[in-house]
Amino acid sequence: MSIDAFNSKVMTTYGRYPVTMSSGSGCTLTDTSGKVYLDFVAGIATCALGHADPTLAAAVTKQMQTMHHTSNLYYSAGQGNLAAWLVANSPADKVFFANSGAEANEAAFKLARKHASLRGVTDPVIITAGSSFHGRTLAAVTATAQPKYHQGFSYGGKMVPGFSHCVYNDVSSLRSVFKKHSSTPLRHKLLGRKRRVAAVLLESLQGEGGIRPGDKDFFEEARRLCDEHGALLICDEVQVGMGRSGKLWGFENLGVVPDAFTTAKALGGGVPIGAMCARGEAAEALGPGEHATTYGGNPLACAAGLAVAGEFSRRDILGNVVERGEQLKSGLQAIVDANPAVLSEVRGWGLLVGVEIKDSVPATAAQVVSKAMDKGLLLVPAGVKVVRFVPPLVVSEEEVGKALDMFRESVEELAKEMEK
Ligand SMILES: Cc1ncc(COP(=O)(O)O)c(C=O)c1O
Repeated sequence: MSIDAFNSKVMTTYGRYPVTMSSGSGCTLTDTSGKVYLDFVAGIATCALGHADPTLAAAVTKQMQTMHHTSNLYYSAGQGNLAAWLVANSPADKVFFANSGAEANEAAFKLARKHASLRGVTDPVIITAGSSFHGRTLAAVTATAQPKYHQGFSYGGKMVPGFSHCVYNDVSSLRSVFKKHSSTPLRHKLLGRKRRVAAVLLESLQGEGGIRPGDKDFFEEARRLCDEHGALLICDEVQVGMGRSGKLWGFENLGVVPDAFTTAKALGGGVPIGAMCARGEAAEALGPGEHATTYGGNPLACAAGLAVAGEFSRRDILGNVVERGEQLKSGLQAIVDANPAVLSEVRGWGLLVGVEIKDSVPATAAQVVSKAMDKGLLLVPAGVKVVRFVPPLVVSEEEVGKALDMFRESVEELAKEMEK
């Protein structure tokens, strides 16, 4: 099918690059013209084991041939086993399975509201941070504190009620937003209502917002304020979680233990699945009939999740993320140092790394991504000025070396164009 025919039938909600991918193997993708790309996008931080991983393929094939979907009317071993793995490998006590990151976050919003409602709160407020990204459902996009994602979707100029935003990594901003919502205004009181902060929901590293790692001080203060006010600290681990930071969960880099966290992307290695994991009282807040989804945690998705989880135990994936992450970061730092007129900074954890293009440079990250793509390297912007590197977690030393060479050439090409 031609790209024009595709666009005439599929809603144009995505700005796509003009290529059609037809197959993948390990850390490479091949398009319909036969061009092979080194894939440092991995389905946007999703294909943890790369493409056509034999273990993942075998697990999904076997499950497909046995029983791929039954609904949550019945028990299924795979769902229980994947929940058990998540519980054994995180602070969580219980898991709710969804189908995507946004849906996992929706479950977290409902958990926060229900937990607050059990404490007599009628007007629960969820605090999220500026420049965050939490997904595209109406509540997730409201939590996403970036006005560009809200345009065209408000009602009476407002998005979903009950969300408030602070500045990421700014302790005083968090304190003042907390203070603002930690008491009940008189007009609410007169109506017999009670307003409180129900939760603070944060990415431990902001991905889409420009690869910004969280500050320890900020997360420690969030934890302290949540404890003081009986609110839940929830981490959105959809992009940074499942090993991408070099630790299994991003919050482990910050020394805080959240009450709940969400995961998706790498959890299924590219097979759609999401999960909202909670501990303590929070794990018990949602009861029968209070949240559900037809596909959530179905046998096929959980077989994929268990295959990915199994590979974390069988292969030293976290060790590879740390080593390859250091190689990537130091290689990118050398490129930044050699091109001070074009690039300003390298940031990130493990294999979630971003390079910022100087504000003074009249080029966007998308333009640099296109140059790299011409050379056979797939990258993805994180905001207007940051080029993001999120390869499969099993990427090799040689592949990181090749990616650095292609990125260097792209940056040098841009630098030459700027001299003209
Ligand atoms: C931190 C974070 N949360 C939530 C989402 C939404 O996930 P999904 O696209 O699977 O709904 C994303 C997607 O990029 C993300 O990066």
